[in-house]
Amino acid sequence: MATMLAHPPSIETRAPFRRSREYHTVVPAVVEGEVPHWLRGELVRTCPAVFDAAGWHARHWFDGLGMVYAFHIGEAGIGFRSRLLDSEAARDAWQGKARLGSFGTPTVRPLWQRLVEPVPRITDNNNVNIARIGQDLVAMTEGNRQLVIDDTTLAVDGPVRYASDALHGSIMTAHPHFDAERNSVVNVATAFGRKGTISVYEHAPGARRREVVGAWQTGRIPYVHTFGLTPRNAILVAHPFAVKTSKMLWSSKGYIDHFDWHPEAGTHLVLIDRDSGAVREHVTEPFFAFHTVNAFERGDETVLDLLAYPDAGIVDALRIERMVEELPDLRPALLRIVMRQGVTRATVERLGDTGFEFPATNYRRVTGRPYRYAYGAANWPQAGQAYASAVVKLDLESGTSSAFRDEAWVFGEPVFVARPHGEEEDDGVLLTVGSAQDADSAQLAVIDARTMTPLARATVASAIPLGFHGSFVH
Ligand SMILES: [Fe+2]
Repeated sequence: MATMLAHPPSIETRAPFRRSREYHTVVPAVVEGEVPHWLRGELVRTCPAVFDAAGWHARHWFDGLGMVYAFHIGEAGIGFRSRLLDSEAARDAWQGKARLGSFGTPTVRPLWQRLVEPVPRITDNNNVNIARIGQDLVAMTEGNRQLVIDDTTLAVDGPVRYASDALHGSIMTAHPHFDAERNSVVNVATAFGRKGTISVYEHAPGARRREVVGAWQTGRIPYVHTFGLTPRNAILVAHPFAVKTSKMLWSSKGYIDHFDWHPEAGTHLVLIDRDSGAVREHVTEPFFAFHTVNAFERGDETVLDLLAYPDAGIVDALRIERMVEELPDLRPALLRIVMRQGVTRATVERLGDTGFEFPATNYRRVTGRPYRYAYGAANWPQAGQAYASAVVKLDLESGTSSAFRDEAWVFGEPVFVARPHGEEEDDGVLLTVGSAQDADSAQLAVIDARTMTPLARATVASAIPLGFHGSFVH
């Protein structure tokens, strides 16, 4: 009789979540096509990669142990390397422990520890995003323990050491904004007291003292993944997927498992003036969003574009037990929310007819300004077939879209790289990494953003799990 211990089903064996061994030293990719001569640098990305360790199992996609990988684009060709993220969370998991609070996987802590520490310390499994902040390459998740990554080895150098400022201990989003005009990093931090305090902070890229520019207090704290930024305002999306701090005390549930959906509350948009700190609120219909796309001011109106799901069901659809049954439909709708000064109700309009996730723009050029093009990756289940995937471009002027597809690959977030001195907003390339549907290989596709046709494709014999975000760095 089988007496095996039941353990949760795994997604590590299926595309696009398989992984190969790490490549700590550079391996050359096989390149087809022509890489633009001006495209030199490195695409660095993160992904959840390990879902099952010794006695530990991720219960949510966001909790897979992180991997950092990079495609280096140089004169001599394209080279690839990868490394699992050495974190306290990973070291715990490989020992079968789960002491740190994570997104959707329960903690296992003895009663005495839960009593003296009612809320667990937060994970340092920084598997969501990686970006250059000043000199540092920084891996991020939605926590308070960002990690500096060594440019050459991709190994962890140590924690980002913020000055002991007013935000000590607060969690930060994994989606900071970079304001080139002010030479400033802008991000949002949440502190859980009796009430929640969501603060907007800024600092020079090379500085690590965070200056709070404004804050919003709320009894019901929304899940904040991104925010909008214009030259005047930071815009918080307080959708009705929210939590009261008291629910998290002495609990062993994952962070997000304390959140409830309150559609009757609608979605609140909180504008925080970056100069005065003044707070203004608008309200509109309930929806759930991970990602904003862009925001800008237009006369007495503030416009915010984001990718919205009808409700927070997508958070459940990304649980491992759900993903082994059916891979998630990652095609939220692009909504334009218009907030007029003096009018509480915000209006909502759908832009285009194509749904997609993992948005990108010509970031440096259009952030905080009116713009024309949005890009993203669309992934969705198809009956009896492999996971469908497309890299999408949406023209907001005409409402039309175009796409790049290749059924052998599941593509993730496209990263836009502008051609130096390019005239048009879409003059540049999209860099996207595909996970093979049927082989242990991955591919960097260099796509002409004007035509959405591939210019070059660089393939490596290494399976890379579909992940979240990354950056093109020099
Ligand atoms: Fe994200």
